[in-house]
Amino acid sequence: MAIDPRELRQCLGHFTTGVTVITCNGEDGEPHGATVNAFTAVSLDPPLVLVSLDRRSRLCGLIDSRPFTVNVLESHQKDLALHFAGKPSQQVRWGPDSACGTPRLDGTLAHVACVPWRSYDGGDHVLYLGEVQEFLIHGGQPLLFHTGKFHHLGDDHSPLLWDDSVDGPGGVTFVAGSITGSS
Ligand SMILES: Cc1cc2nc3c(=O)[nH]c(=O)nc-3n(C[C@H](O)[C@H](O)[C@H](O)COP(=O)(O)O)c2cc1C
Repeated sequence: MAIDPRELRQCLGHFTTGVTVITCNGEDGEPHGATVNAFTAVSLDPPLVLVSLDRRSRLCGLIDSRPFTVNVLESHQKDLALHFAGKPSQQVRWGPDSACGTPRLDGTLAHVACVPWRSYDGGDHVLYLGEVQEFLIHGGQPLLFHTGKFHHLGDDHSPLLWDDSVDGPGGVTFVAGSITGSS
């Protein structure tokens, strides 16, 4: 079956993700960042995470040999996501460098700082695994990405379905969530 790349992209866009900005030091010593939603946890022992980068991106050439920070964006940081996706729009607020000496963004939900571990061929992308050196949860709500749009978590996620189930309070809690558009 011939795969239509546009249709595949559309289908894969139904898998909802958070949004990160991957930052590292550029050749000139200035911080560089790019918006990435292809980020995933991989392993706890050793502690590994993965990002998938387009070979044509500047970041792809940089993090081959450099430590990097995964900045997990907060729900109000949609414009920052666009800023680091080729639509510069603002003065970026940087936080203190990570323990690896990598630049990191201020006001994010969390950050994870890594040193390069392995990289793998991913077709027109390269899969980079980083070994976690430092991580911190700063708190807040996540920015989400779904079918090409930014979203935020819905607020109707109160516990429900206790009914008369033997799995009632003290047992398993079922928490329903929803996504509402904000773009
Ligand atoms: C929501 C969103 C998610 C993105 N995810 C990725 C991704 O996972 N991998 C990637 O290589 N590019 C991704 N991009 C595109 C890059 O952010 C964009 O190509 C960026 O300009 C690359 O910057 P650079 O070439 O200066 O390093 C994404 C863009 C957006 C808006």
